[in-house]
Amino acid sequence: MRLTVIGAGYVGLTSALAFAVVGHDVVCVERDPVRLSRLLRREDPLGEPGVGELLGQTAVRFVETDPEIDRADVVLVAVGTPMRPDGHADLVQVDEVSRSIAFGARPGAVVAIRSTVPVGTCDRLQTGALLHQLVVSNPEFLREGHALQDTFVPTRIVAGGPSAARAVVEALYAPLRERPCGSGVAAAQVPLIWTTSRSAELAKYAANGFLATKLSFVNEIANLADVVGADAGAVLRTMALDPRIGAGHLRPGLGWGGSCFPKDTRALAALAAGEGYDFIVLRAAIEQNNRQLAQFALMIERETPTDASIGLLGLAFKAGTADTRESPALALAHRLARTGRRVNAYDPAIRSTSDTAISRVDPDALAACTDADAVVVATEWPEFAALDLRALRDVTRGDLLVDGRAVIDPVRAAAAGFRYRGVGGLPAG
Ligand code: UDX
Repeated sequence: MRLTVIGAGYVGLTSALAFAVVGHDVVCVERDPVRLSRLLRREDPLGEPGVGELLGQTAVRFVETDPEIDRADVVLVAVGTPMRPDGHADLVQVDEVSRSIAFGARPGAVVAIRSTVPVGTCDRLQTGALLHQLVVSNPEFLREGHALQDTFVPTRIVAGGPSAARAVVEALYAPLRERPCGSGVAAAQVPLIWTTSRSAELAKYAANGFLATKLSFVNEIANLADVVGADAGAVLRTMALDPRIGAGHLRPGLGWGGSCFPKDTRALAALAAGEGYDFIVLRAAIEQNNRQLAQFALMIERETPTDASIGLLGLAFKAGTADTRESPALALAHRLARTGRRVNAYDPAIRSTSDTAISRVDPDALAACTDADAVVVATEWPEFAALDLRALRDVTRGDLLVDGRAVIDPVRAAAAGFRYRGVGGLPAG
């Protein structure tokens, strides 16, 4: 099958590589010249496990524009849909790309929208710019840091659009639906849910909205546990053992971030509001997330002098990536810097930053925390759990250790001479 993938970000590049590995003929279009030249040198622009190796092994062709897009059976759209100031998704790139596909692709070709787009976008494209193609909503569910793995072994595939497109979409995914031996998943095949484009579009927002809401709920439970004198860890471990709840996304922290949850939750709330539907649970989840971070910042501000030096451990929005988009760690640094505090940081995946809230990025945790009045763990890197806390306490000026990711053992922290503040332990209200 001949495939043109438009956009070589996390979604586009990993899709292009996976479809090429399973035997499709893939061209990947990238308009950013810097990223394109890296791809032409077969260099990984994402820092995702396995991408560098696969770039060297597959025959994906990277181009600025695909002159043979008329040969494509499927055009896969994976361009950005960033957040507009009003919370809605910005569809400028999707619309622009759709116009060029309409111009180049053959009538009847399937155009699969992998980008996260508001409900109704595919219907609008189908009756507008892409009148002569078959528009299918086909969102992805990949996690950063596991992008290739999630593309090769997806938990599910959802696609929706005109029924004439169904057989093409099924043929496209057929090789990826066979579960590899030892994947540990009982089902013989990855489920493919064929539905309407509106349902597929909403399914993506629903999954991210639910996970974000789950995390906000978890953070509320952790805060409440502290208020009522319960052990949040024991409560959450008990919840995790209920298969209806599941063990994933149950770790409390200073809030959720990244390139998807903040953007998608706000877009979903804005979408609902635009239809006159008040999505109260989601609105509360977003508000709780803002409050969670604000409470951490307030607690640090109350317990340190205004000219304090803060050793910030972690800059990435989560462990396993160098991505700082909508990172709670950076949002916290901004609040602290605004009140006059100096923030020196260390992150295992980040060597430097142009972010003005960070005074310095150090090569290790001890350097970042030397003479610090407070140490703040803001990303759940496993190496922070294994820190030599006595050595850390030896270099800090103050004794405050704020564990915003529940990675440090409070007993060890106290034994090393720290005043430990965890995810509970926040001022109520
Ligand atoms: C998410 C979804 O998981 C993925 O399915 C979707 O396609 C894109 O958005 P990602 O943004 O890569 O993926 O990260 P994820 O692992 O979900 O974490 C998001 C945020 O939640 C991070 O800030 C992370 O630190 C936080 N988080 C996650 C927690 O605070 N606790 C947890 O238990 C899990």
